[in-house]
Amino acid sequence: MLSKKSLSMILLFTFFIGTGTYFTFGENLIGPTPHYITQTITADSKTTRTIAWQTTPSEVDQFLEYKELNTSQTTLLVANSQKLTTNAEDMTLHCVTLTGLTPSTTYDYRVGSHNNWSDWQKLTTEGLDTTSFKAIIFGDSQSSDYAVWKQTAQTAWSKNKDASFFINMGDLVDIGSHYDQWKSWFDGAKGMIDTIPVAPLSGNHENYLPGGTFSPAFLYLELFNLPMNGPDGLKGQAYSFDYGDVHFVVLDSQAEELDKFQPDLLMKQKTWLEQNLKATAKPWKILLIHRGLFSHPDVANLNELGKAFVPILDQYHVDLVFTAHIHTYGRTTPLLNGNAAEKGTVYISTGRSGDKTWSDSKQKPSEVVYDTALDMPNYLTLETTGNTLKVTNIKQDGTLIDQFVLKK
Ligand SMILES: [Fe+2]
Repeated sequence: MLSKKSLSMILLFTFFIGTGTYFTFGENLIGPTPHYITQTITADSKTTRTIAWQTTPSEVDQFLEYKELNTSQTTLLVANSQKLTTNAEDMTLHCVTLTGLTPSTTYDYRVGSHNNWSDWQKLTTEGLDTTSFKAIIFGDSQSSDYAVWKQTAQTAWSKNKDASFFINMGDLVDIGSHYDQWKSWFDGAKGMIDTIPVAPLSGNHENYLPGGTFSPAFLYLELFNLPMNGPDGLKGQAYSFDYGDVHFVVLDSQAEELDKFQPDLLMKQKTWLEQNLKATAKPWKILLIHRGLFSHPDVANLNELGKAFVPILDQYHVDLVFTAHIHTYGRTTPLLNGNAAEKGTVYISTGRSGDKTWSDSKQKPSEVVYDTALDMPNYLTLETTGNTLKVTNIKQDGTLIDQFVLKK
């Protein structure tokens, strides 16, 4: 696994060079252009950003070069690189975490080596006093044809170029151990994922091996260099980050698939979640978790995940819980312990961004808005303006399914 995020570890050396001046790396680094350039969310988007990319195995010496927009002085960083063998092909993963960035600033960056640079890309840091921002949220993108995911992702991005980051709610791919599916997923997000960071969740399909058996989500954790602030033993599977006035917490709901590997998954996350929510001073709190917390179809029945987490969500007044897994959209009335309550938590099942549907889904009694998402995929936007938080659910063709606003 790529070692994570410490600039002191990855900044082996830094060169300051002027535009048009190139450092000579040698003649043996010619190879394919870097691909699947991925910005990943960090705990602090004001001053840090993680960028990863993939090349053929021969490309072991890779670099990231960046500069502030409309300036000429560039900084060159050495990537942390690791060869990886997958079912489809071997590759080398490269990663740099930029630190010490200036808030509210746009940078140009490119990755590669002397003879194989990517195009210049852009990244923008969060402002110091950000209260308003937008994020795009995608339900399950797992597909038999990832062109469907690509259409949803590119449609959402084209309509929301002002988004600061995007979230994928888990089950990004159908079989998490299949690198060819990941290639299709990254291809679908191209243009967005190299411009704004992704905050992904691991879903049960990230744990899938061929033949219906399970393993830890090895490939997912390799491909996404996630904040390492989760519980010990579950780093990357659970993490948190802040953006504007919102504290986001990501949990791993795969207690069933990971029972043999991480039997204390729920207990560890329960302890960590309580500490994490207790520590934040952010006025808005949002939980992102792949599986829902209630049994079907009776919303008042907490499932095992709900029994573990809902009392903590209630205690710390979590405003919103986004879930996925059932490929349908549903928004509940505010709930406390599964029962309607004015100051409760709103639970949103986010639908689907890929081509997999679930025709047996049923509307829960507490869901005030429901959509089967059988006809076409959908995506959500989350917008904050300090004292308001607005969620909008839109079909792939632009039809509005739901919109609501929370106020503090
Ligand atoms: Fe799932």
